[in-house]
Amino acid sequence: MLLRIPALLTRDEVRACRQAMEQAEWQDGRATAGHLAAGVKANLQLPIDSPLAAQLGDLILDKLGASPLFMAAALPLKVLPPRFNRYEGGGTYGNHIDNAFFTIPGTAIKVRTDVSTTVFFSDPDEYEGGELIVEDTYGQQSVKLPAGDAIVYPGTSLHRVNPVTRGTRGTRFASFFWTHSLVASAEQRRLLFDLDQQIQQLTARHPGDLALAALSGTYHNLLRMWSQA
Ligand code: NI
Repeated sequence: MLLRIPALLTRDEVRACRQAMEQAEWQDGRATAGHLAAGVKANLQLPIDSPLAAQLGDLILDKLGASPLFMAAALPLKVLPPRFNRYEGGGTYGNHIDNAFFTIPGTAIKVRTDVSTTVFFSDPDEYEGGELIVEDTYGQQSVKLPAGDAIVYPGTSLHRVNPVTRGTRGTRFASFFWTHSLVASAEQRRLLFDLDQQIQQLTARHPGDLALAALSGTYHNLLRMWSQA
């Protein structure tokens, strides 16, 4: 399941983040690519230990924590601090599947990459190319969203970022990070998400209906059965 989270960040927040990103020092993205990924990765990223990455990352995580849609879809247990990348002048990241685990820098905590999230910091008309292409069960999905929007997709998917082709004028700024979910299986997360969304709709239409309490109980019993925390 690919899920769009519209306007995760306000226009003002995007503008402030962009200003900071445009003034930051960027490094070659291959610094953090695994052996195989290094061959297909051609972008720039903020150093993982940079204070700016930590500051912007905290903002994103705060906003996601307050997003019922993200919480229902990702069912987060642990989150890797967001990373920031920049594609321009033909920059690209070819087809790959992310590593299964990453360690939170400076700790021994391992995060399983169940759920991937990309947050867009450039508007689609600012650059050519640069689509995030995700192979899911329904085929290839092409994602290019307004700045401030996020897309959530299974960490198990084959994905790539098409080359950003508009010379030096077009730059694609984005953030991405992984979530270790309470529920490892994308199919089980999908069922829980669908059930949750229907319960929300019914609650709005028939508040206090006794069947809702039962449905909600079923949701939690499934979550208890499928989660690994
Ligand atoms: Ni990736």
